[in-house]
This record gives sequence, structure tokens and C-alpha cells, in this order.
Amino acid sequence: MARLIEHDQTGPVEVPPCEKSVWICMCGLSKNPPYCDGAHKLAKQQETEGKLYRYEGDQAIEVESD
Ligand code: FES
Repeated sequence: MARLIEHDQTGPVEVPPCEKSVWICMCGLSKNPPYCDGAHKLAKQQETEGKLYRYEGDQAIEVESD
């Protein structure tokens, strides 16, 4: 699955040392970056392997790709 994500931040976010595991979002959909907030679960439900998507809010919209 692939998706187009708009990012408006231009620098890194520090993740300070933690005693417990910290989950960093890699899907680009978290509303609490850089941390995973579980939004990837919705993406897995809405997306089909091999398709390209862009998101408006929580809505996945398939993008035509060549
Ligand atoms: S990996 Fe992005 S919200 Fe979980």
C-alpha cells in the first residue's frame, strides 16, 4: 500500500530516552507525530495492496497511477 502524505514540518522531532518502548509513526497518518496513534489500523482497513491513496481527514481516496 502507498499513500500521498502532506507534511508541513521541516525539521526533526526529538524522542527523548524512554524506559518503555516508543512507537514512531511510519504510515504518515498519525495526528500525534512522530508517535503512532493507531491511525495505521484504519489505513489497513481502507486500502488495497498495490493501490495508491491520498487522505482527506480519515477518508482514503484512491489515486490513479500509471
Ligand atoms: S504507524 Fe502511523 S499511526 Fe501507527
